[in-house]
Amino acid sequence: MSAAKGSLFSWPRRDAPAEEVLRWGLAEFGDKIAISTSFQATGMVILDMAACATAGNVKVFSLDTGRLHSETYELIEQVRRRYGIQIELLHPDGGELGRMTSLYGPNLFYDDVSKRRLCCEIRKVRPLNRKLATLDAWVVGLRRSQGSLRESTDTVSLDHDHSGIVKVSPLAHWSDDEVWDYVKRNDVPMHKLYDQGYPSIGCAPCTRPTGPGESPRAGRWWWEDSADKECGIHISPDGSVRSSLDVLLEEVLPAAPRAR
Ligand code: ADX
Ligand code: SF4
Repeated sequence: MSAAKGSLFSWPRRDAPAEEVLRWGLAEFGDKIAISTSFQATGMVILDMAACATAGNVKVFSLDTGRLHSETYELIEQVRRRYGIQIELLHPDGGELGRMTSLYGPNLFYDDVSKRRLCCEIRKVRPLNRKLATLDAWVVGLRRSQGSLRESTDTVSLDHDHSGIVKVSPLAHWSDDEVWDYVKRNDVPMHKLYDQGYPSIGCAPCTRPTGPGESPRAGRWWWEDSADKECGIHISPDGSVRSSLDVLLEEVLPAAPRAR
C-alpha cells in the first residue's frame, strides 16, 4: 500500500466512533484530504465535528451545480459565519454546460434517465473528478441506512472510481436518530427545507418533499420509477444507462469524449 493511502494497519475499525474516524483521516492525510458536503444533516454533523477538531482549519468543498435551492446558499453563509471556515464551491465547466443546455435545454433531466444522468455528470461528477484528482482522501456523509445501494458502506475504503484514493465515511453506521440527536445537542445549523418535509436535499428541480410512508430518497428524481436514486458521484451507472450516457457525453464533449 502506498503512503498516499495511509498505513493500512492504522485504519480505524469498521464501527469506530465517528469523531475517531474523522480525526484519524484529517491527521493521516493532512492537506491532501477534504470534506465533501451538500449541507444536509449528515454533512453538517461532520462539519461541526471537523470544525471542533481543527479549530476551523479544515478543507471543505461543495459542488455548486448552479441549480441548488436558495436555502442551501443561505446555509452556506451561515456555516461560514458560525465556523469561520472557507468553503470551496466547485462549478461545472462553462463550455460543457453551455453545449449541454444548448443541445438539450436547461431542464433536460425531466426528459429521460440518460439526460438526467448527463446533467448530473456535467454539473456534479466531472467537477468532483477534477477536484479528487488533487487529493489523497475525501470525507463524505454516506450512511448505511440511506437505502440498499449504500448498506455496505465502510467507514474507510479505497475509492476505485477515483484512482483508489481513500474515502472516509465517519457516520456510515449512524442512524437518523443519532444524527438528529447530535444536531440538537450541539445546536448545529440546519437546512430550512427539513421543516418543509424534505428528508433528502439535492438540486431544486430534482428534489421534492415526501409523503407519509415514502422512503427518504423518494423525493429525489421522483419522476423516475426504475432508475436507482443516485447521481453518479458515489455509484457509477452501468449497463444500458452507462451506454446511453456515453452517447450523449460524446455530443457534449466532442474534444475529449469520456475523459472522466
Ligand atoms: S447524492 O449522490 O444523492 O447526491 P447525497 O445527497 O445522499 O448524495 O449525499 C451523500 C454525500 O455525497 C454527501 O454527504 C456528500 O459527502 C456528498 N455530496 C452529495 N452532493 C454533494 C454536493 N453537491 N457537493 C459536495 N458533496 C456532495
Ligand atoms: Fe442536474 Fe438534477 Fe442532477 Fe442537479 S440533481 S445535476 S439539476 S439532474
